[in-house]
Amino acid sequence: MQEQAIQDIHAAETLEALQAVKTRYVGKSGLVTKELGTLGKLPPEERKARGAEINVVRAAIQAALDEKEAALKRAALDARLASEAVDVTLPGLPLPAGGLHPISRVYDDLIGIFTRMGYEVAEGPEVEEEHYNFEALNIPWYHPARELQDTFWLEDGRLLRTHTSNMQIRYMLEHEPPLKMVSRGKVYRFEATDATHEAMFHQLEGLVVGEGISMADLKGTIAEMARGLYGASAKVRFQPSYYPFVEPGADFAVYWDNPRGESKWLELGGCGMVHPNVFKAVDDLREAAGKERVYEGKTGFAFGLGPERIAMLKYGIPDIRYFYANDPRVIGQFRGEL
Ligand code: PHE
Repeated sequence: MQEQAIQDIHAAETLEALQAVKTRYVGKSGLVTKELGTLGKLPPEERKARGAEINVVRAAIQAALDEKEAALKRAALDARLASEAVDVTLPGLPLPAGGLHPISRVYDDLIGIFTRMGYEVAEGPEVEEEHYNFEALNIPWYHPARELQDTFWLEDGRLLRTHTSNMQIRYMLEHEPPLKMVSRGKVYRFEATDATHEAMFHQLEGLVVGEGISMADLKGTIAEMARGLYGASAKVRFQPSYYPFVEPGADFAVYWDNPRGESKWLELGGCGMVHPNVFKAVDDLREAAGKERVYEGKTGFAFGLGPERIAMLKYGIPDIRYFYANDPRVIGQFRGEL
């Protein structure tokens, strides 16, 4: 019986099969157990020797069962380890790499140019009080310029700023002249979108205030910016224009030898000498906040420009809506160009 049992144990290929063998031999009604039950019928003098014999057989079978069970469990574990193993020699899966958004790249260029000229960088809110976006900038409610900048209004009377010029007011509230400041950020206009118009776009605002600041300083600064962006051959052009918060006001354009052969004048933004009414409005706000009036009698210039226009021409992007459509193919072209 022992030999047969050992053979059966070796033949078992799974833990379940082994369990069946175990039940058959040493289970409650197994063959070995039954054999032990026959001891009572033997004459007392044979009982002891026979009992010892059966126990030896049972111990041998049990030992073989234990050994086989351990072997089967080890094999199962090995199989699992093999199937779940990580092959560290396989080539890795390439992760899609990111890239800087073209608007971020243009901003970085611009901020670099102006910080090298000693400008401070300021940041301010996109959700703005009407006063900072309009009145303090010499744009009263009845002024036609309000129609030029159709506005998203919030229910609480605030608005989404229509330009970054709100930062002129906010910065002068907190700082005293002389000062040089640039501020970047999103602006919003309530208008139909097309290839060159979006309801959200970006601006860079600049403000310089001090003693005897003149239009010549403004022109020199814009020219310096153009050379910083496009190299020494860049040219700038100013044309008279109207913004309520500057006087005189101008629009400016730049021209440079575009390596893609699309050289043309690029209208970049507006600028001008800060209107005295703006300085007065700032001093009024300062006074109301318990601060000194320090702006009346000063002079300064301001400018505002759109990085989208620079990026469209610089990178050959034909439609402003591509910037914000979240199509990874757009930004994918700027991969690795950090
Ligand atoms: N805020 C003006 C605009 O959004 C641009 C500008 C800024 C003009 C500063 C003059 C001075 O169009």
